[in-house]
Amino acid sequence: MERYGEVQAGSKYEAVYKESIENPSAFWGREAERLAWFKRWDTVLDDSNPPFYRWFVGGELNTCYNAVDVHVENGRADQAALIYDSPVTDTVTSFTYGELQGQVAKLAGALKSMGVEKGDTVVIYMPMIPEAAMAMLACARLGAIHSVVFGGFAARELAVRIDDAKPKAILSASCGIEVKKVIPYKPLLDEAIRQAAHKPEKCLILQRPQATAELTPGRDLDWREAVEGAEPAECVPVQATDPLYILYTSGTTGMPKGVVRDNGGHAVALRWTMKHIYGIEPGQVFWAASDVGWVVGHSYIVYGPLLTGATTILYEGKPIGTPDPGAFWRVISQHKVKALFCAPTAFRAIKREDPQGEYYKKYDLTGFETLFLAGERTDPDTYHWASDLLGVPVIDHWWQTETGWAITGNFRGLEFFPIKPGSAGKPMPGYNVKILNPDNGRELGPGQSGVIAVKLPLPPGTLPTLWKNDTRFKESYMDIYPGYYFTGDGGHMDDEGYVYVMGRVDDVINVAGHRLSTGDMEEVLARHPDVAECAVLGAADDLKGQVPIGFVVLKAGVSRDPQEIVKELIQMVRQDVGPIACFKSAVVVDRLPKTRSGKILRGTMRKIADGEQYRVPSTIDDPVILDEIKQAVARMGYGRRAS
Ligand code: COA
Ligand code: AMP
Repeated sequence: MERYGEVQAGSKYEAVYKESIENPSAFWGREAERLAWFKRWDTVLDDSNPPFYRWFVGGELNTCYNAVDVHVENGRADQAALIYDSPVTDTVTSFTYGELQGQVAKLAGALKSMGVEKGDTVVIYMPMIPEAAMAMLACARLGAIHSVVFGGFAARELAVRIDDAKPKAILSASCGIEVKKVIPYKPLLDEAIRQAAHKPEKCLILQRPQATAELTPGRDLDWREAVEGAEPAECVPVQATDPLYILYTSGTTGMPKGVVRDNGGHAVALRWTMKHIYGIEPGQVFWAASDVGWVVGHSYIVYGPLLTGATTILYEGKPIGTPDPGAFWRVISQHKVKALFCAPTAFRAIKREDPQGEYYKKYDLTGFETLFLAGERTDPDTYHWASDLLGVPVIDHWWQTETGWAITGNFRGLEFFPIKPGSAGKPMPGYNVKILNPDNGRELGPGQSGVIAVKLPLPPGTLPTLWKNDTRFKESYMDIYPGYYFTGDGGHMDDEGYVYVMGRVDDVINVAGHRLSTGDMEEVLARHPDVAECAVLGAADDLKGQVPIGFVVLKAGVSRDPQEIVKELIQMVRQDVGPIACFKSAVVVDRLPKTRSGKILRGTMRKIADGEQYRVPSTIDDPVILDEIKQAVARMGYGRRAS
């Protein structure tokens, strides 16, 4: 166990946590007072229709107003709101709250003249440029519901999301920049719209100098021209329970889940987290080195810091290669970052290139107080390396797209606990975390492993439902263990209440902190004309935590070179899911291990791919096949535990 600073006697945390669980209305009602409301709520928590809980019912507010305008009105007009730091374009630009308000209001005006109104959906498919954050805020300003799609997803993934969200408009840019590669986005957007059954009325395209896109007459508008000619739009009051955004996340099938976020609960919860978890006060600088396409980007590049009146960094670059493994230290020192939030994989990448931390020594990191890690488990090696190098607390905290903020962690602004490497900390206020026996749903005791669940209700800011799909919401999260939210993660809790998250219990994998569905990739492989059946699993990887590996059984009579087929399969996943899937290894096998009833033994295969001990299941059809799988995994270079 590691200790930093003083551990306070008597637990502030315990009192706060207890109240949040026993009297959530009092706890969150008090927090809500920090925001500006057009109309005060009637009820803090409406629990009359479980598992559909609603927060701040009857209240009216505007999230953009609380994230931008309120700070301008309260004397922060000249303070930096957003710093765009882009080593890939050699640019650093700062926007004050006053400037951000002006630009967001004009962009909202442009959207309004395109016909976007309160309740409409808007898809945002953009690289890491300030206009992406402005696009989100402009939608919020109008009461429109944004759905950001990560730029590393291919046209087919974008098309699936367009068909589900049915956007009135799509906002995009001509290209993204990946280290030294320029990636034209417009052809991907055009292809996605071609594939989708739903067609947006208008697209607003930001031309970047690195690649100019051709605009489709009648549908596409030039971003700068549209904004220049627009009248600034005012903030539109919305219900606290109205959706602010939809964010699609990988489930176990090819159809991603449209996680809905409301306006009121979200703003209240994020405001609380910035102060208490991250220790950030108005005027301080916070950096989440993620992408606006992920939940971390939504909560902690855009909304959390801005709702707080802090300064956020929007970084278009990587931890390494832009230009070197000192990139993070340069940004922290140049912008006086107080806390950084990133994925452990970023630190593994830096460690690989600069194991002695030579680049770190070149910068002055005075004022840097905490490193927060999430997106995947922080392995103890990475924890120790980062913690020794930085000499500040390294906090692993666990959360999901669904929750929008941490379920467990530690607190820089409430009570800081001794860190236990390998644990993702203690339950956050509002989260009644329980470990359940997967077979019967009974609560387990300290040290016992099971599935991690949260006793209902969930706190504000968490998903009220899935977009236009209450049934899937119930089936995926609420019906499995009635009365609990099923997280999809497994692990245990120790006798001091520390939670250990050991990995997904379903077919979701985490590649470099990016959540992906192996089921989605299997659907792609199954479309190959020579493939009879297939399985995709996550294998432990030293850099990316996990990478997907594929096993395919060919149709009878196929006599083509298996290597050729594997190459085609890799290309298909890149084409249909996107490069971000990092699907680079597959093998042709004679058969897949199955139970006698014909079910593929994924759990056992997963263990083999991870180099873990496994038991030969009693239901297996033919045990010899597990050795064949083990050999196939070894041929791909996997099957040993990542260090
Ligand atoms: N648009 C288009 N393509 C993208 C993209 C984007 N926004 N983001 C990634 N890609 C592409 C990359 O160019 C790469 O393509 P390639 O196969 O042609 O090289 C592929 O997707 C995989 O990208 P990435 O996972 O970034 O791998 P990498 O090897 O380039 O970099 C790391 C490795 C560890 C440096 C990188 O994964 C990283 O910084 N991870 C941090 C993850 C993170 O911030 N997660 C957010 C959750 S908190
Ligand atoms: P996402 O929805 O993309 O944020 O991914 C959520 C998933 O990432 C979780 O269900 C976990 O499997 C994993 N995850 C996120 N943070 C952590 C963490 N700190 N420790 C372990 N797993 C994590």
